[in-house]
Amino acid sequence: MSAGILVDRVSFSWDRQLPVLRQCSLEVPQGQFWMLLGANGSGKSTLLKILTGLLVPDEGTVTLAHPFGFVFQNPDHQLVMPTVGADVAFGLAHENLTYAQTRDRVGEALRAVNLEHLIRRPIYALSGGQKQRVALAGAIARNASVLLLDEPTALLDGDSQLELVQAVQALVKRHALTALWVTHRLNELDYADGCFLLERGSLVDQGEPQRLKRALQAQIAVPWEKRT
Ligand SMILES: Nc1ncnc2c1ncn2[C@@H]1O[C@H](COP(=O)(O)OP(=O)(O)OP(=O)(O)O)[C@@H](O)[C@H]1O
Ligand SMILES: [Mg+2]
Repeated sequence: MSAGILVDRVSFSWDRQLPVLRQCSLEVPQGQFWMLLGANGSGKSTLLKILTGLLVPDEGTVTLAHPFGFVFQNPDHQLVMPTVGADVAFGLAHENLTYAQTRDRVGEALRAVNLEHLIRRPIYALSGGQKQRVALAGAIARNASVLLLDEPTALLDGDSQLELVQAVQALVKRHALTALWVTHRLNELDYADGCFLLERGSLVDQGEPQRLKRALQAQIAVPWEKRT
């Protein structure tokens, strides 16, 4: 199976004394939806920033299919235009498309996330979950083959959370995308094909989401002070 996302022995530190990522290697097979879990400060966002090219690793390499789309934790940090349609179209500005081509790509992308009816809606009049779906539509319109999502449901209520994770799962399957989704919410593992666990910058476990979910639920049941 070919890799949609490949991280090969990546290390990163802000300060040489305190490594943030230590020889991390992981592979998300093309066409699959994987999640990345780990405690606060374990290096999840750093790894995603390295994948996007925002940070350069000290050692190791990353490979991912292009173009890719990025969805942030806070939906207000990524939508730049005043309306839904204009925001999705903005990402296509450099492609020299005709008006009709742009309109079709925006329409299709919004249909893919069930927001076509809101194409003229001002961004400020959307819910958090709808904003995250607009960000996803932006990636779909640009024909992204990889989606990177850093706690995209952190600010959403339970219903919007499930809608978003289901929407990403459906997009991954329908368009054969590859997605890596960072989360702290164990119920989201029900939608994943696989899961990675990061601990203090090292990848300590990976594989079947339900096994990892049970292991993490058992860990949560043990108070911090009793852990070794
Ligand atoms: N700009 C920075 N300068 C120095 N240290 C940083 C910087 N950004 C992050 N760090 C440190 O790097 C480590 C990893 O941070 P990172 O944001 O990757 O963690 P995370 O796993 O995403 O955590 P969270 O679950 O809280 O989002 C933390 O110890 C953090 O304090
Ligand atoms: Mg983070």
